[in-house]
Amino acid sequence: MNQIYQKVLDCYESIKERIPFTPKVALVLGSGLGNYADTMDVKAEIDYSEVKDFPVSTVPGHAGKFIFGYVGDVPVVCMKGRVHYYEGYPISDVVLPVRLMKMMGAEILFLTNASGGINPSFGAGDFMLIEDHISCFAPNPLIGANIDEFGVRFPDMSTVYDKELQDKIKQAAHVNSIDLKKGIYVQLTGPSFESPAEIKMLRTLGADAVGMSTVVEAIVANHMGMKICGISCVANLAAGMTENPLTHEEVQAAADEAAPLFKKLVTESIISF
Ligand code: HPA
Repeated sequence: MNQIYQKVLDCYESIKERIPFTPKVALVLGSGLGNYADTMDVKAEIDYSEVKDFPVSTVPGHAGKFIFGYVGDVPVVCMKGRVHYYEGYPISDVVLPVRLMKMMGAEILFLTNASGGINPSFGAGDFMLIEDHISCFAPNPLIGANIDEFGVRFPDMSTVYDKELQDKIKQAAHVNSIDLKKGIYVQLTGPSFESPAEIKMLRTLGADAVGMSTVVEAIVANHMGMKICGISCVANLAAGMTENPLTHEEVQAAADEAAPLFKKLVTESIISF
């Protein structure tokens, strides 16, 4: 059997007895949404360290566990803390949690993150519905022998972000008077922030927001036939767009400030799925 598939299977086998329900939605919590579970009816938690051979994140603010609970009537598995490529893990480990959540039964992948705004009409604290992405600056997680159990060799990428889910998120934002921007998210590897010249290049290429996650997760979820949606919290304007140098602490603080409204948008969206 394919070794990467075997590893996901082993992870699943090591925790399956402790999973309280079949989740409908897999929610990846980005910066600022770390304590989202406080708003959920939590049924179980599993520390990443308890999952056999699971990659454990090393980034401050990204401590890791799966949280199982209800958002309204919807059974959700949350990933509190994601694994980033810049931490040094192989790309197959970076996307392993998403594959595991699909194995748990999740049909929908809801991705969230904090990003740098590239679109000049964006400001810190804005939310951007991810309509599409640019992946070519990050390694493709499907490189290597195709895992037929997950999907086909050459997956179509014409509509990675499900139109119906996008409409539901737009509607949730509208009903709750939350201003929701729309745009293209580009993933770079990090961990250094971009240079001003790189930001100019990314803008020319059509990107509206930049970050260090999400796209590789969307690629494997799309490979597995999940329905995908994503919202990015613009934590700062990207390098060169203001005088300020960028720091992780500043990004985290801005994401924390936007968190209450972000949580509301996520909750109201999930309830409508
Ligand atoms: N660049 C890349 N990743 C980020 C940024 C940024 O400006 N802000 C938050 N995550």
